[in-house]
Amino acid sequence: MSPTRRQTLTAGAAWLLAGPSRAAEPLKIGFLVKQAEEPWFQDEWRFAEQAAKDKGFSLVKIGIPNGEKMMAAIDNLAAQKAQGFVICAPDVKLGMAVERAAKRHGLKVMSVDDQLVDGAGKPIASIPHMGISAYEIGRQVGQGLAEEMRARGWRAAEVGALRVAFDQLPTARERTQGALDALKAAGLPAANLVDAPQAKTDTENAFNAANIAFTKHPGFKRWVVFGMNDEAVLGAVRAGEGRGLRQDALLGIGIGGSQTALNEFAKAAATAFFGTVLISPRRHGYETAALVAQWVAEQQAPPPLTLTSGTLMTRKNQADVRRQMGL
Ligand code: GLA
Repeated sequence: MSPTRRQTLTAGAAWLLAGPSRAAEPLKIGFLVKQAEEPWFQDEWRFAEQAAKDKGFSLVKIGIPNGEKMMAAIDNLAAQKAQGFVICAPDVKLGMAVERAAKRHGLKVMSVDDQLVDGAGKPIASIPHMGISAYEIGRQVGQGLAEEMRARGWRAAEVGALRVAFDQLPTARERTQGALDALKAAGLPAANLVDAPQAKTDTENAFNAANIAFTKHPGFKRWVVFGMNDEAVLGAVRAGEGRGLRQDALLGIGIGGSQTALNEFAKAAATAFFGTVLISPRRHGYETAALVAQWVAEQQAPPPLTLTSGTLMTRKNQADVRRQMGL
C-alpha cells in the first residue's frame, strides 16, 4: 500500500470513528500558495491569519512551489484533520488533481488568484474562485502608461512596448492583453510590441527575459513596460537600468501594490517603476479563508466566482490610495 493510500484510509477511518462529536472538533483551514516568498502571498497569508483570529479557526499555511509539494500538502492537511483549504496552485493545469485529492479527503476547496482548469483548459466551475478582474486591471495599466506618455510628450510611434509575458497562465495572459489593447487604443502601433516571455513569475526571470528583448531591439530609445505583476515589471526596470535606460526613457506600471512596489516608491529618487495597480490582498486572503471556514461550519458554499478590482497607485498618490483601500 502506498503511503498516500494508507494516510487516506487513516483519515477516512478517523472521520467515521469521530462520528457526531466531530462537530466539536476545532475548525482548521489550510492556505496553500505557489510562491510563499512573494510579498503578495505574504500579505494574503497575513490577512487570512486575521480572519482565523476574528472567526475562531486555526490556519495552516503551506508553500507549494511544485505539484509534488502540493499533493503532499493536501495529504498533510487531511492527516492533521483540517476540513478545507484555499489554494493558489503552482500550475493551474493541476486542477483536476486538486479536486480529486480534496474529494478523497473530504476537504472543501476554494481557489484564489489563479483559477484551476480541467484537462481541456476550461475553468473548473465546481471549485469556487476569487481572482482579480484580469483584463480590466490590465487596461488600467495600459491607460496609466498612455496617460504618462502623453504627459511626457512621448510620441507613441517611437516607443517600444515591452510585454513581460507568462502566457501559460490565463490570468497573466488576460492582464497583459488588457494593457496592450489600451495602449493600442491610445495610438501605439501594433508593430512596436515586443514580447519577453519569462520562464517563471519572479523578478529574476523577468530581468532575464527583458534583457534578451532589449538586446534584440536596439532601435527603440524609449520604452513602456508591463507584465502580470509588480515582480515582472520590476525585473524589466532593473534590466533597463543595467543598459542605461533610466526613468526618463523607461516607464513601467505593475500590478499588485505589495512590498515590492512600496520599496520602489520608498527610494529617494524616482525609478522607472512609475506605478502599480493596487489590488486587494485583504479581500483575497481574509475573505477566502473566512468563506471556506463558513462552508465547513454551516455547509454554505462560497459564491462560485468573485472578481476583485484595482486602483492605479503611483509614487505620488500612494498614501491616499492605500488609506482608501484600508491598507
Ligand atoms: C497571480 C500572480 C500574483 C498576484 C495574484 C493576484 O497569482 O502570480 O503575483 O498577482 O495573481 O491575484
